[in-house]
Amino acid sequence: MTDSMQAYLEAKRSVDDRALNRRVLERFATALSDRPEPVRIVELGCGVGTMIARLAEWECLPAQVSYRAVDRDVASIQRARKLVPARLAAAGYTIDSLESGADGTVEGGVPKSTTLVARPDETSDGIGSTRLEITLAVADAFGLEDDADAVVAAALLDILDLEDAIPGIANLLADDGLCYAPITYDGGTTFAPRDRLDERIEAQYHRHMDEVRDNGGSRAGSDLLAVLPRKGWNVLVTGGSDWIVRPSAGEYPDDEAAVVARVLETMADALEEVPSPELGADARRRWFARRWYELEDGELVYVAHNLDVLARVP
Ligand SMILES: C[S@@+](CC[C@H](N)C(=O)[O-])C[C@H]1O[C@@H](n2cnc3c(N)ncnc32)[C@H](O)[C@@H]1O
Repeated sequence: MTDSMQAYLEAKRSVDDRALNRRVLERFATALSDRPEPVRIVELGCGVGTMIARLAEWECLPAQVSYRAVDRDVASIQRARKLVPARLAAAGYTIDSLESGADGTVEGGVPKSTTLVARPDETSDGIGSTRLEITLAVADAFGLEDDADAVVAAALLDILDLEDAIPGIANLLADDGLCYAPITYDGGTTFAPRDRLDERIEAQYHRHMDEVRDNGGSRAGSDLLAVLPRKGWNVLVTGGSDWIVRPSAGEYPDDEAAVVARVLETMADALEEVPSPELGADARRRWFARRWYELEDGELVYVAHNLDVLARVP
């Protein structure tokens, strides 16, 4: 993966901030507060560590938390090592230590894991109230062992095979442990202004997710709501978390134009791989050219439909 992946993950933070379903998040926070402390959280596919800092900043965590965040992408974990302490410090935390683990290095001499301890700084007027021990590690989500109170999988389950991922998550959880899976894509990518080819483009994009890509699916959010009960999980709450990126007076907020750009690139690459007789290459190129102009001119609105799910392990 390239640097642009990390830039994209940082840029989508404000889009996720707006989108996250507050009902589901509040239920997650309440359920965490019922667990004995320190509460153990494992985050899979943590990217640049946005969710850790968000949960602390938004005061969703109990007083003592041990947080293990993993991603298989080295560059994302490297970026998380900078971003997470910086954001926690800005939120009023003191970072006591930042140490490499004893589990060695990956290519380039990068440590496999780093642990930091963050505690509320009583002298600042920040909002922090949790003592957090955070381990950031380069690892495959399904090569781990743990006995966690909760697993967080944000914007992840739509790129995995749910039949394997759900038992994999169950194996990481203690009795009655929780899975919080926000921003799980669920079959909707739309743009405004409308174009007569929109539906065909979206259908081909979904076909690529369902038939060409190795894992995941275009209806992962809804599929999750069927797979979890079938595997004995109790779905506690679910709700929509649609992404809406909208310019105002020709300008996109923060770095959100980069999110739309990344989506258009991903869609263009996907559609190259699923030729369709109903959608000629010229028509497809014209559709993308139109969307790029509209993005540049600050006129393009992008909406993606996602679900947030909170469930308890069998
Ligand atoms: C769409 S990104 C979401 C990142 C982050 N959760 C967020 O919402 O900002 C998916 C992330 O999952 C990671 N990933 C995918 N499969 C993984 C696996 N099997 N083990 C660990 N990380 C994985 C990718 O490297 C990527 O950083």
